Amino acid sequence: MSHSNQAADTAGMATSTAGAEVLLSLSDIKRDYVLGETKVQALKGVSLRIHRGEFVAIWGPSGSGKSSLMNILGLVDAPSSGEVTLEGLPVSHLSDDALADLRSRKIGFVFQSFNLIPVLSALENVMVPLQIQGVADPKARERATQALKDVGLEGQLHARPDKMSGGQRQRVAIARALVTSPSIVVADEPTANLDSENSVMVVELMRELNRTRRVTFIFTTHDPRLLELVDRKLLLKDGLLRTDESLR
Ligand SMILES: Nc1ncnc2c1ncn2[C@@H]1O[C@H](COP(=O)(O)OP(=O)(O)OP(=O)(O)O)[C@@H](O)[C@H]1O
Ligand SMILES: [Mg+2]
Repeated sequence: MSHSNQAADTAGMATSTAGAEVLLSLSDIKRDYVLGETKVQALKGVSLRIHRGEFVAIWGPSGSGKSSLMNILGLVDAPSSGEVTLEGLPVSHLSDDALADLRSRKIGFVFQSFNLIPVLSALENVMVPLQIQGVADPKARERATQALKDVGLEGQLHARPDKMSGGQRQRVAIARALVTSPSIVVADEPTANLDSENSVMVVELMRELNRTRRVTFIFTTHDPRLLELVDRKLLLKDGLLRTDESLR
């Protein structure tokens, strides 16, 4: 099923996800970057609904606005216009502190370059978001240990990132994203620094966590093979959503 967006917002999407709760919605999102005299219109009016439990990929050419969109979905960047609503709460009026708090509780991030702290062990890296939330040490340790077990790294708790493969590092990063039990995990090109075998492994792991723990995932990719593993793929081109395909 394929729709030409922006109408995807209404009719089509409801078919595959009937009854599911809307987790995150974007309404006519625009994002301009102003550099001196020039203005780049990175997003030109994107409307989108992500339902709880979905496993979604965003793809499209370099410069199409994927990272700009992910930053807005992750509440890291504010749109130039349009509204983002997370679990029914419009976020545009929130203070920076309130946004940071919402982000910390509701959103997990996975990055292209893993962004692990090199001097900390896997376990200590995964404990960081809990420590930011003020979770006491024994509890943080217990939850981080469980998160690392969930990604198959129970044997590597005390290893440092530089002793791990790229695939293992990204699994640590996924454990770190999940340890706070977020509503959604946002991952901008999580496999860009991995070989093809590890790329598939990482997306299959996210897929399994999506199924077993009902975590909603949204990630960007350039790799056509990874698009085979998702429920829904959104094509972004020139700052607009062009197609929205539900595959299952
Ligand atoms: N901070 C910024 N300042 C100015 N222009 C920016 C900024 N970030 C992105 N852009 C521009 O906005 C457009 C969209 O960029 P974006 O990084 O969102 O694309 P992308 O789809 O993620 O590309 P890639 O596949 O290369 O990661 C591009 O023209 C880019 O040059
Ligand atoms: Mg990008």
